[in-house]
Amino acid sequence: MEYNRRKFISFLGKASLGAIIAPPFLTSCGNNTTPTALKNDNNTHLEKLKKVVLENLLPSDEDDLLLTKGLNYHTVIKWRDKINNLDTFGFNNDFTCFLPLDDKNPKDGLLWVNHEYVNPLFVSDFNFKEYKNPLQHRTLEQIDKEMYNVGGTIVRIKEEDGKWKIVKNDPHNRRITGKTPITLNWDIPIKGKDTVIGTNSNCSGGITPWNTFLTCEENYDGFFGETQYDENNVATHIPSSYGWENFYKYPPEHYGWVVEIDPKSGSAQKHIALGRFAHECCTVYELKDKRVVAYTGDDSNSEHLYKFVSSKPNSLKDGTLYVADTKNGKWLPLDWENQPVLKAKFKNQTEVLIRTREAAKLLGATELNRPEDIEIDPITGNIFVSLTNNKDKNDFHGSILKIEETNGNFDALTFKASTYIAGGEENGFSCPDNLAFDLSGNLWMTSDMSGDSMNKKNKPYMPFKNNSLFVIPRYGENAGKVIRIASAPRDAELTGPWFSPDGKTLFLSVQHPGEQTKDLKNPTSKWPFDEDNIPKPAVVAITGDLIEKMNLLNQIEA
Ligand code: FEO
Ligand code: CA
Ligand code: CA
Repeated sequence: MEYNRRKFISFLGKASLGAIIAPPFLTSCGNNTTPTALKNDNNTHLEKLKKVVLENLLPSDEDDLLLTKGLNYHTVIKWRDKINNLDTFGFNNDFTCFLPLDDKNPKDGLLWVNHEYVNPLFVSDFNFKEYKNPLQHRTLEQIDKEMYNVGGTIVRIKEEDGKWKIVKNDPHNRRITGKTPITLNWDIPIKGKDTVIGTNSNCSGGITPWNTFLTCEENYDGFFGETQYDENNVATHIPSSYGWENFYKYPPEHYGWVVEIDPKSGSAQKHIALGRFAHECCTVYELKDKRVVAYTGDDSNSEHLYKFVSSKPNSLKDGTLYVADTKNGKWLPLDWENQPVLKAKFKNQTEVLIRTREAAKLLGATELNRPEDIEIDPITGNIFVSLTNNKDKNDFHGSILKIEETNGNFDALTFKASTYIAGGEENGFSCPDNLAFDLSGNLWMTSDMSGDSMNKKNKPYMPFKNNSLFVIPRYGENAGKVIRIASAPRDAELTGPWFSPDGKTLFLSVQHPGEQTKDLKNPTSKWPFDEDNIPKPAVVAITGDLIEKMNLLNQIEA
């Protein structure tokens, strides 16, 4: 079988821009439920893990980032902070990924952060609610500010005396924005271009086996709109909510892709072969022969789960994109050449990839309830997919889907699908979004209840109060239970959990605090409580005794 724990290092944030050092239990192969290192060490580590005491935080509507006993946090970077003399940190940070510059020092490296979208009230001084037809009142200056504040940031950070700090003016520091030129990794131009302008709606992401960042364009239709086709294949432009296309005539087809960023040069490319839809994330696994498998979900009601399997080593271009039929456990190839139903509807494979959703539906892909983050269990190799909710289908609390590829082969064409855990009051969480496994195999999970339904009477989300970070421990008396570890500031969502290579820090985004603010003088949140007295999205570093105890790597090193 293909399953190899060593490959999981990259998913766990243990990769570096130098050589990879594998923690002991990750280097051994197999598919069982107990890490090898635990077995080989007279179960000392396992006994320690079983004894970790976790205090479950109560739901809270307090305007602060609250952490359970044994954890503390400091802010690493927040909106508008300078990264160099020219550039500032963007808005609404989501996915984070940290790569040390070399493998000798896990405390010095490059942090990648996604900037998903902007709140014009904060970013461009424009209040949509003031106008009946707001798009008629937008200015070029506002759009330019908004385009600058999406995309991503690369910033060098170092840990000194227990605190992560940015290295201002480091030559690696740069912004990727809504205006950065980005090449298309495809042989045929799209809407006449092989280089397009900018990236936006960068939600979650991933990392490649060759240590580059992946950033995923999710709700791209909000910025340049979308092209919709009727039953006669006649195209209509559906306008965006932000109205950028009224100032810059970039076609919607240039957005909705997985984007790869080279950490050192900052060069970027969009991967057409992975399809075009509201990509939440991209989770890549390297097979023994260096071909790759990339899992990616379409975060919209009743959309689908996909995987790309490459036909060449280290390629995100040559290969086949499949969509999941979870009812029958089959990966269906989105292959124009060999699928008559696709040949009848589309001109060629490029059109299939641009209109992936339509192609997936023609093949009979299973509708899922907003597939968001995807992570691979480092101990079993099973694939976990957050299904956040689907209010249209009365699924208010979502669930986590478990995919077991046949014989553990990631390039298998068949699999078994089951529900791992369902959201709801019984399990203490609602609307699962980002997932992250730590080195002991504990599963960390954030929630994404929307700002307009959180803490609202007569809404099903009332008992859960603010969005939170949870952990599902693998060992001990709480094994399999959902424990609330952190509670977000008001209106915020916690996103982008990423462990540092020494397992001592959990990087976490605090996105859209105070999102429901109507008047800047009276914001609904003031987190992170700086001198500006307004809420600011920020990346924090969570450290402390508890995180170290839960992480086997530290115990091996100890
Ligand atoms: Fe941007 Fe699906 O969360
Ligand atoms: Ca998300
Ligand atoms: Ca994740």
